[in-house]
Amino acid sequence: MKIIKKIDELRPIIKSWKREGLTIGLVPTMGYLHEGHKSLIDRAVKENDRVVVSDFVNPTQFAPNEDFETYPRDLDADAALCEAAGADVIFNPEPDEMYRDALTFVDMNKITKVLCGKTRPIHFSGVCTVVSKLFNIVTPDRAYFGQKDAQQLCVIKKMVEDLNFDIEIVGCPIVRESDGLAKSSRNTYLSPEERKAALCLSRSLEIGRRMAESGETDAKAITDAVRNEISKEPLARIDYVELVDLTTLEPLETVKKPLLCAIAVYIGKTRLIDNFIME
Ligand code: PAJ
Repeated sequence: MKIIKKIDELRPIIKSWKREGLTIGLVPTMGYLHEGHKSLIDRAVKENDRVVVSDFVNPTQFAPNEDFETYPRDLDADAALCEAAGADVIFNPEPDEMYRDALTFVDMNKITKVLCGKTRPIHFSGVCTVVSKLFNIVTPDRAYFGQKDAQQLCVIKKMVEDLNFDIEIVGCPIVRESDGLAKSSRNTYLSPEERKAALCLSRSLEIGRRMAESGETDAKAITDAVRNEISKEPLARIDYVELVDLTTLEPLETVKKPLLCAIAVYIGKTRLIDNFIME
């Protein structure tokens, strides 16, 4: 497995794979890889002849008050995980290599302005821009994204449709710790006390899911029950709890599939997201 830092070094490798008729899978990440990322890489390795994992903490998706500087990084550990999983290349550029004096950004209306987009107004423009660039650099047949970031997956699918990228977007299920907490690079920010408190996310969603599965049709009854469970946790502060249409991300009054119940909750200073989907 190779670690590549320059676009000009990666392109000839991609070209030679294409000449051989090999299929390429891309797994975009910001590194500090865990089992959640690994599930995407495993699937990409199964479904493609060659796999590129991008490992790039993307500055344009962080607002100035967010955690770009402190975001955890460990390229050696990431390389070991990718190698063991059977990836062929880690693409790990510096911010300058990706952006230099860039003036072009990809933006999207509507579905980037709700849910996480309300609290993080520039976030999805940064995500769409970097993912477009990665698509153009790697030209994969398939790209893999986690349902953990359900809005991101929805935004990327729409971008691929709108901008005519000839790439299949594969959504992969959320990988959780044994006690239910969704795996996330940001879990490392949690103190032991906060780590326990963070379980209110998965616990509250389980309550909501059970209500929806057992026939509750009132969306507000479900979001109220989720809110209520989170509110019992003194270290938790709700950013949002919403039940929306999985494609349009518009709020639902009546439960109707496909749906996404998405939450964002601050545990101390750490903002965590989680969700359940019913298709
Ligand atoms: P990052 O947070 O590193 O996540 C990379 C990919 O791993 C995303 O598709 C995310 O949904 C998936 N992932 C993270 N935790 C997961 C879990 N517990 N189970 C399943 N999948 C999980 O998302 C980003 O990076 C960036 O925004 C990126 C798309 C790379 C653009 O910079």
